[in-house]
Amino acid sequence: MDAISTKSLTLAYGEENIIKELDLAIPKGKITVFIGSNGCGKSTLLRSLARLMKPKNGSIVLDGNDIAHTSTKKIARNLAILPQSPVAPEGLTVLQLVKQGRYPYQNWFQQWSEKDEKAVNDALDVTGMVEFADRKVDSLSGGQRQRAWIAMTLAQDTDIILLDEPTTYLDLTHQIEILDLLYDLNQSEERTIVMVLHDLNLACRYADHIVAIHNKTIYKQGDPDTIITPELVHTVFGLQCQVACDPICGTPLCIPFSKGRHLKGVKQHVKSVNT
Ligand SMILES: Nc1ncnc2c1ncn2[C@@H]1O[C@H](COP(=O)(O)OP(=O)(O)OP(=O)(O)O)[C@@H](O)[C@H]1O
Ligand SMILES: [Mg+2]
Repeated sequence: MDAISTKSLTLAYGEENIIKELDLAIPKGKITVFIGSNGCGKSTLLRSLARLMKPKNGSIVLDGNDIAHTSTKKIARNLAILPQSPVAPEGLTVLQLVKQGRYPYQNWFQQWSEKDEKAVNDALDVTGMVEFADRKVDSLSGGQRQRAWIAMTLAQDTDIILLDEPTTYLDLTHQIEILDLLYDLNQSEERTIVMVLHDLNLACRYADHIVAIHNKTIYKQGDPDTIITPELVHTVFGLQCQVACDPICGTPLCIPFSKGRHLKGVKQHVKSVNT
C-alpha cells in the first residue's frame, strides 16, 4: 500500500512547469529518498505532497483521500514536513517552536495535555536539544537550529515525515545521529520517511527506495543496489564516478572523478579506530 501517491501531477511557478505529469507512489512504512541536481524540483515536489503548494494539474492522494479536499489539521495529524531553510518568527524560543508541532492536536475542547508535553520533551531529548530549550532560535548555530526544527517535526508525531535536506548544516556525527534516529522511527514504529538528501552515499545507506528526479519527472526509482550506477549519476548529476561497495554497509558508494588529486601508486587508505 502507498502512503502518498500522485497522479499525473504537474507543478509550476507561473508558466514554468517544474514537475510534469508525475505518477509517484511512496511506499508505506519505508524510507524514500529523493535525489537530483540543484533546481530539479525536489523541494517543490516535497512541498506539494504536504499541500504547501497547489498543483497546476493532477492530484495527490494521502490515506485514500485527495489532499485538495482534506482539512489542514487532518493532513497535519498524518504528515509532518521540515521544509528546506525554514525561518522561525523573531524571538521564538526552541521550546516554543517545538510546541508548535502539537498545534494539529489542539482545539477549543482539547487544551495542552500530558501527551503533548511528552511528545515535546521526547522530541527535544532525541535531537539533543534539551539544553537549548530556552534559547532563542535565531541565536543558535546553523546545526543547532536545524535540530530544533527537526524536533518540531518529530513532536508532531505523525505516521509520515517529510524532510527536505535534514542533514544540512550538521556535522558528520549529528548527520549520522539524525539519520539513525529516523531509521529507528521507521524500524520500530513503521513510520514512513520521505527525505531529500544530497549525500548519495548516505542516501544509499538509509533508503529503501530512491527516486531520482531529472527533466521534470522520475528518471529512475527503486532500491539503491539496483538503480545507483555510474550511468545514473552521469545522467542525473552530469558527474563521472565509480560505484564501489560501502565497506561498512555494503550499499553503493559513489566515488567521483575529479581534476584534482589522482592516486599515485597503490595506497591502502582504510583506517579505523577501535572503540
Ligand atoms: N517561489 C518560486 N518562484 C519561482 N520559481 C521558483 C520558486 N521556488 C523555486 N523555483 C524554481 O523552481 C525550480 C525547482 O526548485 P526547487 O527548490 O524545487 O529545486 P530543488 O531540486 O529543491 O533544488 P536544491 O537542490 O537546490 O534545493 C528551480 O529552477 C527554482 O529556481
Ligand atoms: Mg531543495
